[in-house]
Amino acid sequence: MAKTAEVSIPASARGCKLRCVFCGAEFERTAQDFRCVHCGELLEVFYPLWKTGDPARAEELRMTWMERRKSLHALDQSGVWRFRELLPGMLDWNKVITLHEGNTPIFELPRCAKSAGVRRLTAKHQGMNPTGSFKDTGMTAAISVAVEEKFRWVACASTGNTSASMAAYAAQAGLRSLVLIPEGKISWGKLSQALDFGALTCQLRTDFDGCLQLLREVIRRLPVYLLNSVNPYRLEGQKTAAVELLEQLGWSVPDHIVVPGGNLGNSSAIGKALLELRDLGLISGLPKVSVIQAAGANPLVRTVRENGGKSLLTVQPDTMATAIRIGNPASWRKALRVLDATGGTVEEVSEAEIALAKAEIGSDGVGCEPASAVTLAGLKKLVQGKFVAPDESVILILTGHVLKDPEYTLKFHRGDLFAGTGYQSDAKMFDGHRREPLILDADADAVVRALEQAEKSE
Ligand code: F0G
Repeated sequence: MAKTAEVSIPASARGCKLRCVFCGAEFERTAQDFRCVHCGELLEVFYPLWKTGDPARAEELRMTWMERRKSLHALDQSGVWRFRELLPGMLDWNKVITLHEGNTPIFELPRCAKSAGVRRLTAKHQGMNPTGSFKDTGMTAAISVAVEEKFRWVACASTGNTSASMAAYAAQAGLRSLVLIPEGKISWGKLSQALDFGALTCQLRTDFDGCLQLLREVIRRLPVYLLNSVNPYRLEGQKTAAVELLEQLGWSVPDHIVVPGGNLGNSSAIGKALLELRDLGLISGLPKVSVIQAAGANPLVRTVRENGGKSLLTVQPDTMATAIRIGNPASWRKALRVLDATGGTVEEVSEAEIALAKAEIGSDGVGCEPASAVTLAGLKKLVQGKFVAPDESVILILTGHVLKDPEYTLKFHRGDLFAGTGYQSDAKMFDGHRREPLILDADADAVVRALEQAEKSE
């Protein structure tokens, strides 16, 4: 492989610096694995030049971002780059790789509110991004850095969404992309996106954690730019979801934000944004950020409950919510810090609870992929445990589009989601929630009868 010249640009040229989240060492440049050379932990971006606690600056930022909503410039139309004062700067703003990411809606979930036991429930749907997941908001930032640093190849290990997103942005940038995904245990929708966008896609006979481990070896040997969420620039892009959310709420702070947890980059990014917004004086308090995991892939829950957060308890992951089938999450320290700083908590939910919550989100006309539905399933438990009060304001972060995993949805409604698994008896919970397609003769009478029947059973 021809090695192109790597151009390592100092972070301060972007108005920021990098800092180890464990030992606090500060860096201008990093190795390709984005880890601290002293202790091996992850790095985060920080901005030494920011004016914090200045109400005039906060107001100026609010006005600038609102003004940009009227602009036709590609950077301003991106729901990420519209907030560029909070991001690492580009050396050449014309080189930003954007697919009009961000700008995601907030939806009402009236039926879900009822089943969770809260007065009102809304969701910010990050699945409404160009490739159908929240990953796009981070990818635009990190791919843009990769272009400026003159990498020819980018790579990620993925449970599917990161790879779909990376492949799209790499294609748009004219870069080559390498995808490492677990063989099986990945939705066809996501795999097909990576192929369509031209990635070199390798299905490895291991799980996500194995793929990520192997990729670390690959980047030691080749000049390939790593685009997993260990890349701190990616999380900077991802954090804009929280900025956009607060702007949509008129800068009034909700009581709770509930996020699914896998590799724990997203919860880390959202928490980082909230702390920065508070420091900049854009918001006056913090919502509690809570992280929900599938019970079969619950390393953060175990780490908090059994180990007081001291060191990571890894697990052998198993869940049908394949996006979060992760047992050794890279960003666990960052996520723990967010729980501590915001007063949030962790919760785990069963396969049946996830499937039911997904159907309920569908029944509000919104829909999401299974991993996103852990938020509603977790919220129910947080309400039952009185961590969330019925009249508190709660935002669920839905991370992936319902069409990401149609096989799961079809199996649920046909009644065979749990066929051949140990959960078969739990499927009774789904009665009244399944909506099977009817196979009828091509006869108007038959359709009318079906409609009348449906009306009666409503
Ligand atoms: N929801 C969806 C739909 C995801 O794809 C992921 C992660 C998560 C939640 C968890 O977010 O890892 O930041 O805690 N997907 C990664 C991937 C791992 O490869 O697509 P996290």
